[in-house]
Amino acid sequence: MYPLNYVEPVFRPPSEWKSLILQVTNGCSWNNCTFCDMYTDKTKKFKAKKIDLIEQEIRSIATSGLSVGRVFLADGDAMMLPFNRLKKILELIKLHLPQVTRVSSYCLPRNLKNKTIEQLIELKALGLKLMYVGCESGDDEVLTLIDKGETYQSSLIALQKIKKSGMKSSVMILNGLGGPELSKQHALNSAKLMNEAQPDYLSTLVVSFPLGEERFAKKFVELGRQTLRQPFRQLNQRELFVEMEILLTELTLKKTIFRSDHASNYLVLKGVLGQDKQVLLKQIKAAINKPESSPIRQEWQRGL
Ligand SMILES: C[S@@+](CC[C@H](N)C(=O)[O-])C[C@H]1O[C@@H](n2cnc3c(N)ncnc32)[C@H](O)[C@@H]1O
Ligand code: SF4
Repeated sequence: MYPLNYVEPVFRPPSEWKSLILQVTNGCSWNNCTFCDMYTDKTKKFKAKKIDLIEQEIRSIATSGLSVGRVFLADGDAMMLPFNRLKKILELIKLHLPQVTRVSSYCLPRNLKNKTIEQLIELKALGLKLMYVGCESGDDEVLTLIDKGETYQSSLIALQKIKKSGMKSSVMILNGLGGPELSKQHALNSAKLMNEAQPDYLSTLVVSFPLGEERFAKKFVELGRQTLRQPFRQLNQRELFVEMEILLTELTLKKTIFRSDHASNYLVLKGVLGQDKQVLLKQIKAAINKPESSPIRQEWQRGL
């Protein structure tokens, strides 16, 4: 029997598929982003897990014989835990699972506000090496509309703090997040944020609404961006590609691993930016101008 008791559903970044998912918190303490339904279940009300229980789980993994090389701290914003609690968790991982080479976590920019660079350096020395930051956009208007509770500036400060501590950052930007009206400024300001922050990894996902877009669209109406008569409209495939073309054109990244291969994307794009910028732009232009001869995913092949 698997030695961990998860409160389902549990989410993790696609690249953590081989990692041990250690649930040190349940849900997301913010849980307000209007596009995100991941932790809206009754069972996912935010709660930090007791340290005794975390230790018990780490010990049972250690004695289970499971091979664990990497650990991902779940759920949605484990980094909201105070420094001392994170330190304790990392020490327990080091003690009982000494073979672990990397610990990672989702991280909201505000999670780092009360943590000093010195504290982050200490956490890094204990194995915490990678932060997944859902910036979603670099445009303040879009960030307000989605109720992210972050801004261009707060996101930049957090990404710079991560860099200074020697940890790596992996940023998520959501394609289509501003709808047609804000598409261009969303792409331009997201590129600007990435250029200033120079993250180690950047991935783009297409915003999707498996439970319906009502909650998301309501905010656009409330803030006067759309009317009830003419509510928010999702970008069509071509518009999504055009937004990606603007983003890619504007990006001046020096050495960032770029992935647009999540199941939500219509077109898989992968490369290292800046060296592969022209190749990726060629692929996106081809998808815009000659979709019939581009490797575009069918609707049934997509998912969140
Ligand atoms: C499980 S969430 C946790 C992220 C973390 N709390 C943060 O905000 O940085 C991981 C990411 O999934 C993506 N995501 C969530 N809901 C989505 C949706 N409806 N469509 C597309 N991507 C979504 C967002 O990029 C989000 O940052
Ligand atoms: S995107 Fe992140 S911060 Fe926003 S509600 Fe989802 S898990 Fe919480």
